[in-house]
Amino acid sequence: YFSTVPQAPPDGILKLSVLSRADSDPSKVDLGVGAYRDDNGKPWVLPVVREAERRLNEDPNYNHEYMGVGGLPALTDGAQQLIFGSNSPAIGQGRVYTIQTISGTGANMVAAVFLKQFKRPADAAVYISKPTWGNHRSIFETAGHEVREYKYCNYKTLTLDIDGMLDDMRSAPEGQIFVLHACAHNPTGIDPTEEQWQQIADVMSERGHFPFFDCAYQGFATGDVDRDAYAIRLFVDRGFELLVAESFAKNMGLYGERTGCLHAVCQSSDVIPQVSSQLNRLSRATISTASAYGAKIAATVLQDPRLYEEWLQSMQDMSQRIKTMRDALRDKLVALGTPGSWDHVSQQIGMFSFTGLSKLQVDTLRNQYHLYMTDDGRISVAGLNSHNIDYVAQSIDAVVRS
Ligand code: LMR
Repeated sequence: YFSTVPQAPPDGILKLSVLSRADSDPSKVDLGVGAYRDDNGKPWVLPVVREAERRLNEDPNYNHEYMGVGGLPALTDGAQQLIFGSNSPAIGQGRVYTIQTISGTGANMVAAVFLKQFKRPADAAVYISKPTWGNHRSIFETAGHEVREYKYCNYKTLTLDIDGMLDDMRSAPEGQIFVLHACAHNPTGIDPTEEQWQQIADVMSERGHFPFFDCAYQGFATGDVDRDAYAIRLFVDRGFELLVAESFAKNMGLYGERTGCLHAVCQSSDVIPQVSSQLNRLSRATISTASAYGAKIAATVLQDPRLYEEWLQSMQDMSQRIKTMRDALRDKLVALGTPGSWDHVSQQIGMFSFTGLSKLQVDTLRNQYHLYMTDDGRISVAGLNSHNIDYVAQSIDAVVRS
């Protein structure tokens, strides 16, 4: 039975963690998976998360009962306000439904299956940016969609190809599904400006396209959760119906706890019963009931004003350290006289920099310098620190010159 199953290709991001773990060279630097590290290269448990865990551990009523199929209301309510704003008219009008998911990936998958069953027109394709997070194609194809690409990155200048993006949106048949990165585009670190988001909304509206926002890095792009939600709130204000996948992996450091939400913004509260019933059904069929531990931590942080303020500060600290590392890498490459221009490393935002290094250069860095980044030249800037930055800059310099 199993002998006819073909081998699947390794995941382009997760394979790096395996390779890097197996590499015992002391100079090794892992810039692969997008996970925050402190200046000693260690994972950082946010102080607010430690505090929330302490409260949970000390709660005599704590138990491991099933949660409801929609998830923990304290989490889903808090998550809604984080994404749409505490004064959001859409929330006030009762036209947002939120279901807890297995982090951002689970939210993508629930959305993908939901759209496969209910998309209009039924043959609408899913358009992902070129490039995009390596898992997007796999998720939407697994759910049975036809996946196409829209232009996003100008690979020569490493800037946004806004004209190409808008052209592709205009020339796509009406009513297609567009996957948009809410902020801190993965892998490029290149986001549209506010004016460009308005142009994107104009074209999406003209063509009747359906926006699906993937929001995995709120707080990581600018350090300000409201600014990072600009695009989503713009589209909601413009009257779009849409879906948003939200992850607490990065901004709360809850990577392995798989804590996230899927939000559906509908035109009217009248359709919420239908939409919520279908999302709940899909979730029940796949994960049965939502997972508890990470949700309880995130909900504690979201619902406690003091912890919430402290969390905002931690996000600023993380995004600021990343920004400092971007500038340091750019400055060191410039000081070394490394051929090429490196300003983009500084200008890009979020967790990643799309360096422009070729596959051959990436392979050489991996095999000869023990420096791990994805095949497309993406580095997780959070993996840089004051101890490894010189080595990374010198290695890139050597490989670019060779
Ligand atoms: C990444 O892009 O590195 C992260 O989103 C982790 C993942 O699951 O791929």
